[in-house]
Amino acid sequence: MAERSLAGKTILVTGGAGFIGSNLIHFLLRTYPDCRIINLDKLTYAGNPDNLKDIEQDPRYQFVLGDIRDRDTVVRLFERADMVVHLAAETHVDRSIVDAGEFVLTDVYGSFILLEALRQARIEVFLHVSTDEVYGSRDEGCFSEGDPLNPSSPYAASKAGADRLGYSYVVTYGLPIIIIRPSNNYGPYQYPEKFIPLFATNALEDKTLPLYGRGTNVRDWLFVEDHCRAIDLILRRGVLGDVYNVGANAEAQNIEVAERIVDILGKPKELIVLVQDRLGHDRRYALDCTKLHDLGWRPEQPFAAGLEKTVAWYRDNREWWHKIKDQSEEFKRFHESYYKGRK
Ligand code: NAD
Ligand code: DAU
Repeated sequence: MAERSLAGKTILVTGGAGFIGSNLIHFLLRTYPDCRIINLDKLTYAGNPDNLKDIEQDPRYQFVLGDIRDRDTVVRLFERADMVVHLAAETHVDRSIVDAGEFVLTDVYGSFILLEALRQARIEVFLHVSTDEVYGSRDEGCFSEGDPLNPSSPYAASKAGADRLGYSYVVTYGLPIIIIRPSNNYGPYQYPEKFIPLFATNALEDKTLPLYGRGTNVRDWLFVEDHCRAIDLILRRGVLGDVYNVGANAEAQNIEVAERIVDILGKPKELIVLVQDRLGHDRRYALDCTKLHDLGWRPEQPFAAGLEKTVAWYRDNREWWHKIKDQSEEFKRFHESYYKGRK
């Protein structure tokens, strides 16, 4: 198959003001000087215009404040786009445990609106960003793309619903959709409710690091820039209708990651405290990424160096996260209610 090209193309990114989206937009503008980006983002608590401040005036970049569930807006933007990368979602597992409603409405119904718009549009490729959490947990071995989905949190179940809805639009309508299932991303601009930025910023503030359960749960850590390179490659070479796992083969227990963070910052290990576990906490995720390797991608960032870089970014960009942790009522409301009494 001839490779698709991103040069001179208009790429619509949904959820581009979030963590992965803002890293992806920077990556694409750097890599393809003549591409154009439209960023459709509702700016929920997790969407942050500060992530994209440096490109606000770039003529190749357009920000559209809007909801992926707004059919008219979506149809209008699809008319102008050549490719779509769909990232917009509610993404925090702990929040989905407290209240799943927004997860179903955004992750499932929002994806449905985009898929319906795709039926009427002339889009070369629609890249749907799912997650490795759709497979559920396993103690040994790795998940391949054909394995059954057994999502265990309301977040993962909502993502699985959208993932399979996308597949149904491939089978039923023959639409040019590719689904990817990435593992845990880390890097700059990640909202500080997630594990690595929460622990790094808490350590910087000499606050405790609340480790769930015994800290033995395992995640596979993918540096966000490696993920962006994978998205770029899959947009160009991915087979329409296929699913690709995106993992770094960098497994670590949470306790190990927490200890590395305090070491990097020269803080005492006593900051790490074991707290009540997350409900339904998946023990381990691990992916077989042979399909993606065969396309020509390999992760480039070793975890130890990537973690050092990431922790250094939070150390050097205090203003970015102080604004969220100290000034966002939404951050404070969730954080205080969720961690209060988690002993
Ligand atoms: P994030 O929470 O940092 O950002 C989500 C973005 O989506 C925010 O900018 C938010 O404003 C926007 N958004 C939410 N609802 C919207 C709506 N209705 N309309 C328009 N915009 C809306 O998320 P992230 O970590 O960057 O994740 C991006 C995607 O990648 C998600 O689909 C997530 O499920 C998936 N994913 C994330 C990871 C990870 O480790 N972060 C791993 C695998 C998959
Ligand atoms: O695997 C991909 C998924 O990774 C994405 O689809 C999700 O959007 C993303 O949020 C992430 O989900 P996790 O639940 O794995 O990430 P989180 O950062 O919330 O937690 C990582 C691990 O750290 C997990 O085992 C729970 C643990 N943890 C997390 C927090 C916030 C703690 O021990 N303490 C904490 O305070």
